[in-house]
Amino acid sequence: LEASLMKKITCAFWLIFTWIQAACGDVSYSLPEETKRGWVIGNIAKDLGLKSGELSHRKARIEAEETEKRYFDINVENGNLIVADRIDREELCDERASCVVKRELVLESPLELHRVNVHIQDINDNTPQFNDEVIKLEIHESAVRGARFLIEEAHDADVGQNSVQQYALNKNDHFVLVITGNTIELVLDKELDREKQDEIDLVLTALDGGSPQRTGTVAIHVTVLDANDNAPVFNQAVYKASLPENSPLDTVVVTVSAADADEGVNGDVSYDFGHVTEDVKRTFSINAKTGEIKVIGNVDFESKTSFEIRVKAKDGLGLSSHGKVIISVTDVNDNAPVVSLKSLSDSVAENTPPGTEVGIINVQDRDSENNRQVRCSLQTGVPFKLVPSIKNYYSLVTTEQLDRELVSDYNITITATDEGSPPLSSSKTVHLTVADINDNPPVFEEQSYSAYVTENNKPGSTLCSVAARDPDWRQNGTVVYSLLPGEVNGAPVSSYVSVNGDTGVIHAVRAFDYEHFRSFKVHVMARDNGSPPLSSNVTVNVFISDVNDNSPQILYPTPEGNSFMTELVPKAAHAGSLVSKVIAVDADSGQNAWLSYHIVKSTDPGLFTIGLHSGEIRTQRDISESDSMKQNLIVAVKDNGQPPLSATCSMYLLISDNLAEVPELKDIAYDERDSKLTSYLIIALVSVSTFFLTFIIIVLGVRFCRRRKPRLLFDGAVAIPSGYLPPNYADVDGTGTLRSTYNYDGYMTTGSRTSDFKFKSVPRYESKYILTLYISISFIHMFRPFI
Ligand SMILES: *[C@@H]1O[C@H](CO)[C@@H](O)[C@H](O)[C@H]1NC(C)=O
Ligand SMILES: *[C@@H]1O[C@H](CO)[C@@H](O)[C@H](O)[C@H]1NC(C)=O
Ligand SMILES: *[C@@H]1O[C@H](CO)[C@@H](O)[C@H](O)[C@H]1NC(C)=O
Repeated sequence: LEASLMKKITCAFWLIFTWIQAACGDVSYSLPEETKRGWVIGNIAKDLGLKSGELSHRKARIEAEETEKRYFDINVENGNLIVADRIDREELCDERASCVVKRELVLESPLELHRVNVHIQDINDNTPQFNDEVIKLEIHESAVRGARFLIEEAHDADVGQNSVQQYALNKNDHFVLVITGNTIELVLDKELDREKQDEIDLVLTALDGGSPQRTGTVAIHVTVLDANDNAPVFNQAVYKASLPENSPLDTVVVTVSAADADEGVNGDVSYDFGHVTEDVKRTFSINAKTGEIKVIGNVDFESKTSFEIRVKAKDGLGLSSHGKVIISVTDVNDNAPVVSLKSLSDSVAENTPPGTEVGIINVQDRDSENNRQVRCSLQTGVPFKLVPSIKNYYSLVTTEQLDRELVSDYNITITATDEGSPPLSSSKTVHLTVADINDNPPVFEEQSYSAYVTENNKPGSTLCSVAARDPDWRQNGTVVYSLLPGEVNGAPVSSYVSVNGDTGVIHAVRAFDYEHFRSFKVHVMARDNGSPPLSSNVTVNVFISDVNDNSPQILYPTPEGNSFMTELVPKAAHAGSLVSKVIAVDADSGQNAWLSYHIVKSTDPGLFTIGLHSGEIRTQRDISESDSMKQNLIVAVKDNGQPPLSATCSMYLLISDNLAEVPELKDIAYDERDSKLTSYLIIALVSVSTFFLTFIIIVLGVRFCRRRKPRLLFDGAVAIPSGYLPPNYADVDGTGTLRSTYNYDGYMTTGSRTSDFKFKSVPRYESKYILTLYISISFIHMFRPFI
């Protein structure tokens, strides 16, 4: 320092006495750098006090050291020192404050050496310069206010006032420039926010003090580094999503998204559920990275219609925020309606009127809205319908009268369909039985029944069986058979037949006699066991068929073979003339009564023949004198039954023209006596009868007047026993009961040609006495009370 100061002082001193120094041989000049060539610095000859011609004469020249540039030259003519080269102070002197170029002026003869010092003055020819074109700074956004950041200073080759004098920073929000000595610092004046501005470009200008002033600039690029100063923020406060129920697993419901203004790990958002219920955890999952909320469980509208989920977004360093997701579940028609039976009659009586309620049905659908609108229907073809009742209730009512006998039970299928799309349906089958009512009477299988029985049947034998059907149920359809009371020939019908109440088999109670009656009617009733019972009846016609049980009965001649019964055959009888006739009857009928006559034995075979069916005895040839007077024939009468029955009789024939010739005339006289007696008997009988009848009429008249109620007097007495007569000989009234008067008529109609013969031929006059006696006694006996 001392040396420099001395130097300066010396120099100053030297400058002042420039002109004086010439004497001592040194000259000094001052010259700004970069002066153009040829510039006259000064007149060195004058300054050294040399004469003008002397310079050239003494070969004046400026000498420089070998390595150096000369810079200056001397005009030997006029002694001027001129600039010979470009002079750059910065090159010569760098940063030194004073820059002196020392040269020597050499003169010869005599050798003279003068020092020439040229002070090079600085001009502002250099601009301030920063080392880098761009200064890059990285500053955390968390840097606090007042933080300092060192900036390398700018350099200016010039010196002094021409070097860098000041700095300027462009106007900005965050930084100010603070310069202390040689250090330049950026000071944070306002906190940074990377999220607002993550890069800041500044321009720093360095200014020198020269005139004109020169500036140099550098760009400062500030990169704001992130700090985790931002929590993630959801882009929606509430996320709303609707999700159909039964969505398949992995269905994405909604994607939440939170943004974090920070960078890198500070801005790495991960998602999670906040505090949520168990069922949310079971149903949904959230993708930690993408924020997708997916279905992982079964979503059922019927159990939960909406979910509220708190979601959390967290950045890498733990700042978090919450959002809300509301998932509303929408209904899907996934529940079929359910038909349930609330009540059902055990059974419906078949006489219930149409419109009777037999059951109550309830229909439920767990879905909502249209999906729970349910329509109910029945299958067609059943006499029932559904009548909507309160809310979801339906009444099952009958639409028509039921008939158990047609359909005894119904399987009613109720189908419920909702209005969803596609609609779901379900059905329920209801079993309903129809209870019986005794509404059907037993019906006989046939309109009427006929039974055929041969007479002489065994009592107890089966005649036929009747059957009636009753379609009702159990006892209402159980048929019991019975006979309707009635009479057959005056006797109760039950004495003829009986019916088995259970089976309807009709049995004969007694043996029937065709000759007595040929048919009769029985009414059988079928009654069910209902209450009240229903019944119907049917007629059973019993037809008795004939059996050949009666042998032919010969009326003439009397079978006793009485010799009184003798036919006279005229001697002159020709061949083929009718001699006599055998009369026979058979109580049976048909073939059983078809009689044939045969001569079994005869005195003179070949004289007489008998008509096979007429019984007429005719001569076969003319009577000759040689023929025996007495002829005997034995005639057999045979019916055509199986096996046939027969009877025989003897016929006595007398070939004579004169009764006197007959040897047994006594017999005939006896006969006449007999006929007289018969006449008396008849007269007696008639008179007695007339007497008694008159008597009775009188008595009856008297009684009738006295009493109001008449008594039946003749019960049972009218039928006259027909003892010896064939019971069915003259079937006039069809009842088989013969009256005695008819017997006489019958004889007349069936008699032979000769009427006189008939009276004679009334057989068995002994019995007539008995008959008359009997009638008389009966009369007397009966009318005894009146008498
Ligand atoms: C009703 O269903 C039952 C049981 O399935 C069956 O036994 C019966 O025969 C059915 N009745 C009718 C009338 O279909
Ligand atoms: C028979 O019908 C009556 C009504 O006529 C009814 O009350 C009864 O229950 C029926 N019996 C049966 C076994 O069905
Ligand atoms: C028998 O049935 C008929 C008709 O079928 C009826 O007219 C008659 O009165 C019934 N008789 C009795 C005794 O029930």
